[in-house]
Amino acid sequence: MFDFTAVIPSIPYILEGIGVTLQIVVFATIIGLVLGILLALCKIGNIKPLKWFAEFYTSIFRGTPLVLQLMIIYYAMPQILGFNIEAMPAAIAAFGLNSAAYISEIIRAGINAVDKGQQEAAKALGVPYSKMMKDIILPQAMKNILPSLMNEFITLNKESAIVTVIGALDIMRRAYVVGGQTFRYLEPLLIAGVIYYVMTLVLTFLGKMIEKRMKRSD
Ligand code: ARG
Repeated sequence: MFDFTAVIPSIPYILEGIGVTLQIVVFATIIGLVLGILLALCKIGNIKPLKWFAEFYTSIFRGTPLVLQLMIIYYAMPQILGFNIEAMPAAIAAFGLNSAAYISEIIRAGINAVDKGQQEAAKALGVPYSKMMKDIILPQAMKNILPSLMNEFITLNKESAIVTVIGALDIMRRAYVVGGQTFRYLEPLLIAGVIYYVMTLVLTFLGKMIEKRMKRSD
């Protein structure tokens, strides 16, 4: 059943996909964080049109499949823009825009979870809004936000496997290519599975470390 001999020479080729996968995930997370923070600010603020926009954005990106968003950006956008988008930028854009929706919810929920009394007390003491946010609310919210952000990072890392549909040479795509070349899919796909699993374990471990450090500062 198993015969790794044909696949062993291709292992380095599959491993190179780790860099591609991480590149997509890291850049997408940066975009997601920046947009997510802005969207969260729109949601907790009291400017109605911004609030509606942020809610609408989140609802669209969470309400449709990520693979559809990816395909729209890669295959359909050139029809509007008039030029083609490379697979990597398309993947980073799709994952970044999608993740922003999830991250904005994480941040909003984290801020809302801070006891309302804190805000009332700060207001009663005449602490200005920005100072209250920066020195009182956000440090406490971070404790709720960080673990969820780490989860989002792990989810994105696994979901990134769908870039294989637009031909980006990530771990998944490379395993599939090797399968096609050797006419054996079981082995390369198993190798891809092991790589993703180890990446998840490492990210989970890092997340636990960060959480522990936050607890110590309590
Ligand atoms: N499979 C889900 C979808 O297609 C995952 C969405 C991405 N999730 C995330 N946390 N960014 O909609």
